[in-house]
Amino acid sequence: MSLTATSAVGHDERATLKLLALSGGLGGDVKLSCADLAERLDASNQTASRRLQRLESSGLIERDTVSDGQWIAITDEGERELRTAYEEYRRIFETAPQVDLDGTVTSGMGEGRHYISLPGYQRQFEDRLGYDPFPGTLNVELRDEAVPRRRAMEAVEPIPIDGWEDDDRTYGPAVCHPATIETADGETAAVHTIAPERTHHDDDQLEVIAPEKLRDALDLTDGDHVTIHVGAH
Ligand code: CDP
Repeated sequence: MSLTATSAVGHDERATLKLLALSGGLGGDVKLSCADLAERLDASNQTASRRLQRLESSGLIERDTVSDGQWIAITDEGERELRTAYEEYRRIFETAPQVDLDGTVTSGMGEGRHYISLPGYQRQFEDRLGYDPFPGTLNVELRDEAVPRRRAMEAVEPIPIDGWEDDDRTYGPAVCHPATIETADGETAAVHTIAPERTHHDDDQLEVIAPEKLRDALDLTDGDHVTIHVGAH
């Protein structure tokens, strides 16, 4: 139905519909005279009136004529028409968010190996990341300027890892983000960043997990420069 209505009006009517929406026609009725509309469209009264007629007969607006003008409301069908154009512009302008963070490879305190191997996390990695990670985390010490940029990772859709418990204790929830690690030589590998759910945004240590041992796969040693492209695989 909306497709028929869409093809029933041309560019000029769509531009008029947009102008009506900008005047408040989506929220309820707007009162306009044909002369007002003609002026805003930079067209004759006759043209303005014809466009409104076409919009009305296509079901995109409803009108109620009174002595000094008319009340116009955009219908659901009209809103769908506007949304179609909006989605097209979104596709033109919105690219997937990506955050590039620079840092150097460091050694942690050997805790990553233990946590990544725990069965309560392991099961979720297999389900939600699609692989069984190498037991450990590669620590990247972020450059000073990259630390505040960490906050921008919030724009990238997170993969939640739930907290769980065994007989002895509880283990906290974590958040993963898809990312690509890139070495100074331009070698890359698909990874995930992993952090406790309540991360301190000023933390300069970024930890990544991957199916393989990155130090071997990318020939990395402490002090090597890497870029983590968060949001890209
Ligand atoms: O001692 P540290 O906390 O840095 O390491 P770990 O989390 O126990 O991980 C064991 C070792 O594997 C460390 O040297 C990590 O840098 C490395 N690793 C790696 O190369 N690739 C991974 N995907 C995970 C860890």
